[in-house]
Amino acid sequence: MLRYDTSGLYGRDGLTKSDVPGGDDEQIRKAVEQLYQRTESGELGFMDTPDTSFEPIQAWADERLHEEWKAQLVIGIGGSSLGARAVLSSALPAHKRGLDTYIADNLDPETVDRLFSFLDPKTTLVVVITKSGTTVETMSQFWIARQWIADAVGEDRADRHFVAITDPEKGELRKLVDQHRWFDFEVPSNVGGRFSVLTPVGLIPLALAGYPIDELLAGARDARDRHRQLDDAAQSWGVAAAEHLMLAEGGYQQLVMMTYADRLQGLVDWFRQLWAESLGKAKNRNGELVNVGITPIKAVGVVDQHSQVQLYMEGPKNKYFSFLEVEQFERDRIIPESPNMPDALAHLQGRRLSEVFAAELKGTRGALAESGRPTSTWRFDRITPRSVGAFLFSWQMITAVAGEMMDINAFDQPGVELGKQIAHGLLGQDKTRKFADLARSPSATGTKTVLQVL
Ligand code: PA5
Repeated sequence: MLRYDTSGLYGRDGLTKSDVPGGDDEQIRKAVEQLYQRTESGELGFMDTPDTSFEPIQAWADERLHEEWKAQLVIGIGGSSLGARAVLSSALPAHKRGLDTYIADNLDPETVDRLFSFLDPKTTLVVVITKSGTTVETMSQFWIARQWIADAVGEDRADRHFVAITDPEKGELRKLVDQHRWFDFEVPSNVGGRFSVLTPVGLIPLALAGYPIDELLAGARDARDRHRQLDDAAQSWGVAAAEHLMLAEGGYQQLVMMTYADRLQGLVDWFRQLWAESLGKAKNRNGELVNVGITPIKAVGVVDQHSQVQLYMEGPKNKYFSFLEVEQFERDRIIPESPNMPDALAHLQGRRLSEVFAAELKGTRGALAESGRPTSTWRFDRITPRSVGAFLFSWQMITAVAGEMMDINAFDQPGVELGKQIAHGLLGQDKTRKFADLARSPSATGTKTVLQVL
């Protein structure tokens, strides 16, 4: 079970009930209706992804699990890796009885080299995921992987080590797939990277890792179908989106998602990308400059109580909070009773760690509320594939509705293009432009701004 409690967003310095529109509000209904229409016309696909048929994926993965493979190396970045990473990090050991999974996203040469040195190419399946098929980080690592496998098993036998997940028609990887006999799966062309966790992008690596993808999909489907009617959707996702937008209008432009469960840390990383890349936009749909967005920040309880909470309590009132709370943990410990326990700590004796953890969450949330900071809570009864699936779908919906209400395109990311062009340009892709000037650090143009520290 997963519940979203927004009561803490209301009150003293937060929202007032009378200001926040209900599900009958015209703008909210229009936003949801537009999403539904775009889904029906086939332009948008994410709302259909909980219906991805898992049987063929499962059957294919099961076949691989009966072969010689011991590990999978997943190469992809952003929306092509964060979903599987998030779900796997939420999983219990019992949910990972498949291949050992390593995800190569960052291009840090030391990390990448360590992976290729550690894994055995003879028993590693390489899963390369890129919708565009041209992402420099992914394709660089893929090319290294190609050579690495070919060197170990020979060109003839290399093809069966590769699984490609890419656009059905476009991109360099698709062209390569057409030339080779690799396993391949499609990223639906109407589903963007950060909305693709419930397509082969997330499901193939998860199934190979032994994760129950049927339950993940079922959780997402339940969340969607429970609020599928326009009235329900407007009242649930629509009002939730409106709450965020009204908080932002009121000056709360940073959303701290604070998890009190280590297993949910990956979900916070996944959420950060979804929220930032979808809603951080320069222009609205009319091309007018708006520079909008709500900055997502990751925090982890309890460690960040000893790191960030001072700022959150007393710093600028520009942050609001979304807690991830778990009611029942799968493992626990009891703090033993002892005659030597100092009096000041005696109240801890006989307490379960989960009780202490819960008290710390309530303490932090209560203290933030006391200092006038709006809070909401995602309450997982337990962390299960179903509750994780429901969480993923809920945030996709809230983000998409918020994008509609903001009148921006939540499904593109023009802001990351220039950086990519400069990087490719510096590496020699386009010799007609002077990329070195664009890449120069601002400090290099000043005289007094570089501090020699060593
Ligand atoms: O959400 C997105 O669309 C992006 O984060 C992409 O997933 C990311 O840039 C990787 O792109 P690609 O899958 O084309 O390699």
